[in-house]
Amino acid sequence: KKKKKKKSGYVCVCVCVCIYFTVTSWNVRGIRSQAKKIKIFDYVSRLNADIVFFQETHLLKSEEKSLTDSNFNKIYNSCFNSRQRGVSVLLNKRLPVNIINSVIDPEGRYIIIKVVIYNKCFTILNLYAPNNDDPDFFHRIFSELSDLSADSSLIIGGDFNLALNTSLDRSSKCSNTKPSRSAKVLMDYMEDLGIGDVWRLNNPTKKEYTFFSPVHKSFSRIDFFLSNNSIVHKMSSKIHPIIISDHAPISLTL
Ligand SMILES: *[C@@H]1O[C@H](CO)[C@@H](O)[C@H](O)[C@H]1NC(C)=O
Ligand SMILES: *[C@@H]1O[C@H](CO)[C@@H](O)[C@H](O)[C@H]1NC(C)=O
Repeated sequence: KKKKKKKSGYVCVCVCVCIYFTVTSWNVRGIRSQAKKIKIFDYVSRLNADIVFFQETHLLKSEEKSLTDSNFNKIYNSCFNSRQRGVSVLLNKRLPVNIINSVIDPEGRYIIIKVVIYNKCFTILNLYAPNNDDPDFFHRIFSELSDLSADSSLIIGGDFNLALNTSLDRSSKCSNTKPSRSAKVLMDYMEDLGIGDVWRLNNPTKKEYTFFSPVHKSFSRIDFFLSNNSIVHKMSSKIHPIIISDHAPISLTL
């Protein structure tokens, strides 16, 4: 607030509005049971999330109405079956948001929503990538985005099922040191579109992981956020402990 008094006696007031919100993404590995749902929402509320991305909800279309919480008044679900996939996006009722458009994958893999938050336009995308190396998935995602993302800032988050940098983002030394085909395709899009891995840009050499694989006895960072390089310096990102699920929740604050 800035006040300036003129001789003539009138007062000029400038008001600065700051955009501040947190997105939390979490592969919950099933949210069908009431007991687990309570635990998950309890943890989400402690993380103070304004926007929540869930992956692997395992919710059936007929069960999607069961995903409710008093903090969230707008909920989008993409369902598949009771053992696999399923993603949801939840918007906190305190967030002043206008929905422009939304795309919901019929196969339970992604949800894209174009929104206006405090007069700023964002295209938010929650994804759950296949765990077999499938570059076509990323081609599909970015072709869906190409029409929607113009004139907006991109926020992409979720379980990408790939490590962008195999030496930094995987704990196992003997694992494949080459990036997967999907990782290469994703990195090409990131370069072309001017978007970056928010956590990595804030932590250039740090090793922290979001997932433990009991099969490979190794940790990896396969859950992350991507956003326009031009706004990454206004963001911070956090990896929380691996809890309740086999993945850690991650947060991004703009
Ligand atoms: C991965 O990180 C290492 C260590 O910082 C770096 O030398 C290497 O160039 C990175 N690789 C890629 C593909 O970014
Ligand atoms: C963010 O990146 C997308 C994809 O390149 C682009 O369409 C959009 O205009 C960018 N937004 C800003 C604010 O730079």
